[in-house]
Amino acid sequence: MILVFGSANMDLLMEVPKLPVVGETVVCENYTRLPGGKGANQAIAAARAGSSVTFCGALGRDAFGKELIDNFITHNVQTHTIARVDAPTGIAMIGIDQKAQNMIIVASGANKDVKAKDLDDTLFKGVELVVCQLEVPVQETLKVLKKSKQLGIQTLLNFAPARSVPKEIFSYVDILIVNEIELRQVSTYFSFNPSLQVLDLARALSVKTGCCVVTTLGEKGALLIHKDIGLKQGVLKVQVVDSTGAGDAFVGVFASCYHQGLSIALKRASVAAGLACKKVGAQSALPTKSEIDQEMLRFADPVCV
Ligand code: RIB
Repeated sequence: MILVFGSANMDLLMEVPKLPVVGETVVCENYTRLPGGKGANQAIAAARAGSSVTFCGALGRDAFGKELIDNFITHNVQTHTIARVDAPTGIAMIGIDQKAQNMIIVASGANKDVKAKDLDDTLFKGVELVVCQLEVPVQETLKVLKKSKQLGIQTLLNFAPARSVPKEIFSYVDILIVNEIELRQVSTYFSFNPSLQVLDLARALSVKTGCCVVTTLGEKGALLIHKDIGLKQGVLKVQVVDSTGAGDAFVGVFASCYHQGLSIALKRASVAAGLACKKVGAQSALPTKSEIDQEMLRFADPVCV
């Protein structure tokens, strides 16, 4: 079983002719309300990929909170560790332009009240992998990662959105998933030479932390470094409509397939991220296991680096 500890938002999505610059107002005809939030997206990505998933987070006692709970239930994600709090449910305002570029503003709301103490030891029973991101309070995420390691459970941290963390957090992480910018931010904690190329930085980080370091590189694919293993995966060629949540699709599917081996997890996660770009929205674009299976047949395996 996978336990995802993190954020859940209601995404308010606007397809705009262009993204506003500072001080500008841009008008579009309508908006769509869709379930989102990095933690929730990753939980549902893993569930759609075939895993049994529990989500631990916090929602308001409002209509959005109710919709998000119902959405988890629809996707077979266990909800008994979700707290209902007095703050409003988190929202994200997402603008997408005609070139599929986006801009996101998150109001954390109830996500600020996510607490590690809501997870007592019994709730870790049967959990094989704990997945965290950085959209809920860092100190709570740190506690969950630390406790998971104490209980002998594998951990995955998606360093998104990048923010300041206590350096000790990396000692409780088995799999670290970053994009290139996040990789460079994490590297500053270890004082690596900032002019190093991505491959060398990822290698240095994996050696220093012992983590399996997975770096997503957008159109250039993804790179996985763990001990003496180095794998480079190409990108799935698709018509990109909206890349919101593609990183979450990658993380959720990687977590779901991790037990099948690093190469398979990297390939399936890359397929999922590609497919997630074909539709508007984060969760509305997450692929099913059979959609991933179909694409796997025509997608090249990763190569060694
Ligand atoms: O990663 C995409 C997600 O970031 C959106 O669903 C939005 O809610 C923000 O958390």
